[in-house]
Amino acid sequence: SAAEKGGYDHFMLKEIAEQPKAVADTLLGRIDASGRLTLDEVRIPDAVLREADKVVIVACGTAFHAGLIAKYAIEHWTRIPCEVELASEFRYRDPILGQRTLVIAISQSGETMDTLMALRHAREQGAKVLAVCNTNGSTIPRESDAVLYTHAGPEVAVASTKAFLTQLVACYLLALYLGQVRGTKWGDEIHAVVRELARIGEEVERVLETMEPVRALARSLAHKDTILFLGRHVGYPVALEGALKLKELAYMHAEGFAAGELKHGPIALIEEDLPVVVVVPSPKGRSVLHDKIVSNIQEIRARGARTIVIAEEGDEAVVPFADHLVRVPATPTLLQPLVSTVPLQVFACELATARGNEVDQPRNLAKSVTVE
Ligand code: AGP
Repeated sequence: SAAEKGGYDHFMLKEIAEQPKAVADTLLGRIDASGRLTLDEVRIPDAVLREADKVVIVACGTAFHAGLIAKYAIEHWTRIPCEVELASEFRYRDPILGQRTLVIAISQSGETMDTLMALRHAREQGAKVLAVCNTNGSTIPRESDAVLYTHAGPEVAVASTKAFLTQLVACYLLALYLGQVRGTKWGDEIHAVVRELARIGEEVERVLETMEPVRALARSLAHKDTILFLGRHVGYPVALEGALKLKELAYMHAEGFAAGELKHGPIALIEEDLPVVVVVPSPKGRSVLHDKIVSNIQEIRARGARTIVIAEEGDEAVVPFADHLVRVPATPTLLQPLVSTVPLQVFACELATARGNEVDQPRNLAKSVTVE
């Protein structure tokens, strides 16, 4: 009903708008005033976390994209090797797991059959499983050794939005916690990340306040057949997520690529007026990444692409090559997905509406896939 949607036309719009709160709620009580992580609910003994020699993340769909981003954070902050795998692939091959493997199963619903089967498979082989889940008491956390709940609140729209942002927050917290338990040197970078996390809800709010041009752009592209998404580093999974949102909501052909792969094939797809969304990493910090993606934007624009560039405030290098520029607040590199995903959600939602699609209940899809 209209009341349930809180005045919004669709649950998806309501859930996009709830993201600042969802993110803040997921952080609540988990970082103390001195910047230390307190994840008491993670009932896996510190000794086990200290001895883990590999992290394997299993998930499906949007939760898988959260896992891909988590890998960058876990490996960078903890130096523990981390693999990310689609649960549906993992469960049917012969993965190498042992008692020192920490498996992280990410699921909004906690009922996804493929993810559940993957975690059973992992536990049978002695691995410890930690669930990142949004649904209290659901099957995946019940069958795991421990759970870190995301506090997004109920997500009704089939397309996942606020659950994704909170999955990212939970994964960042876990990565920092693993680092803390294992005695990672708590350098300036990690302090900056912890400080930024504390205010990330406000940054997401700021992004939401500037979405009107993104909506107008989406409406102007409603007749297109294909939209491509490019990113590097943590921007690559963001590109994949932007493309998935467009497929499921707008029923358009959309693909995400790692920008560095362009020359290995996808650049052949570029033709006059093809919209390409590019997620640009921060020019600060890992500036080499930034330079590379600016060249990628130049390359595709020279071949006729209509470039839609998502870049940090103050990033002037992209301006000459952006047909459309979407600004997001500056964040530490690894946290950028928390702000850069938001315009892509709004974009897909508006495109779906413009094409006359049912936003909350896309065709052929179910909110939680409890069958194979
Ligand atoms: C997201 O927009 C999708 N509807 C879908 O990919 C979803 O993320 C996937 O099915 C996993 O669901 P879960 O998080 O409930 O396990």
